[in-house]
Amino acid sequence: MIELSVDLGRNLKLKNPVLLASGTCGYGLEFENFYPLSKIGGICTKGLSYKPIEGNPTPRIVETSCGMINSIGLQNIGAKAFVEEKLPLLAKKDTKIIVNIFGYSLEEYIKVVEFLSEYQEIDGFEVNISCPNVKKGGIQFGTNPKLTKTLVSKLRKTTEKHLMIKLSPNVTDITEFAKVCEGEGADSISLINTLLGMAVNIETKKFSIKRKMGGFSGPAIKPVALRMVYQCVKAVKIPVIGIGGISNYKDALEFLLIGAKAIQIGTANFFNPSCGKEIVEGISNFLQNKGIENINQWIGSIEDE
Ligand SMILES: Cc1cc2nc3c(=O)[nH]c(=O)nc-3n(C[C@H](O)[C@H](O)[C@H](O)COP(=O)(O)O)c2cc1C
Repeated sequence: MIELSVDLGRNLKLKNPVLLASGTCGYGLEFENFYPLSKIGGICTKGLSYKPIEGNPTPRIVETSCGMINSIGLQNIGAKAFVEEKLPLLAKKDTKIIVNIFGYSLEEYIKVVEFLSEYQEIDGFEVNISCPNVKKGGIQFGTNPKLTKTLVSKLRKTTEKHLMIKLSPNVTDITEFAKVCEGEGADSISLINTLLGMAVNIETKKFSIKRKMGGFSGPAIKPVALRMVYQCVKAVKIPVIGIGGISNYKDALEFLLIGAKAIQIGTANFFNPSCGKEIVEGISNFLQNKGIENINQWIGSIEDE
């Protein structure tokens, strides 16, 4: 048996480093048709706000070469419906539940974290300060270091639970934000959220997405994500969770090799809903073939002069 567990700190120990990324796995339960959720380290739920959000007008998703652009606009059922309808079922699944949260203002971020902190079944929060698809909130907090600092410091005072801050790649120097999060008491950082992108249709002469711009994700963004994760691993001591274009176990192993403590699978869930389970198995087999007994021996082991 290969030891696959990783410790992200503050009571968040994963049985393996594979998480499903927010917005690509609903509230997790949808995946039970493909494999038991107990196979993976955990799930990051679709971004939750205190009150339900309807989302942006359609079309709000388009396929591009090697990726997709979305402008969902954080459609969600709201925190109250989540704890009543989804959490009791999810809690039975023997996997970590990381609730991705979002607010239109500082007060709304605090309100949703305060409310959800009461629920023992929730293992941690992933704070989305990087959504490019809403008019206010989200990315404003993630592209201004002063706002990031205020938000993380307030949330740290609001909850005892694990605080993972999800960073935006749409900045000049992502390490500046990583350091601010660490300085204000975040337990970990996850990156990257989507890159701001655009697609147009030459037949209809229209923008492919109603709001013109959206978040670009999928295999095409992997090299950018890998670079940013590496930069953050070098800049901070708290765990870094790698996200961006991961579609198979080899991609996952690359992020772990450069020092990510865990990884998240996003867009790949749409074209291969079983990839969560497959990636866990692939990592385990790879390590076994290399004679590596513990995944922590692989994490950060790249030859780095
Ligand atoms: C349709 C869609 C919805 C998303 N919704 C959220 C969300 O609610 N909250 C969030 O933090 N990230 C959200 N994301 C971003 C992903 O979690 C992930 O960071 C990004 O897609 C990059 O990873 P990938 O290339 O593996 O997809 C969404 C992505 C997609 C494609």
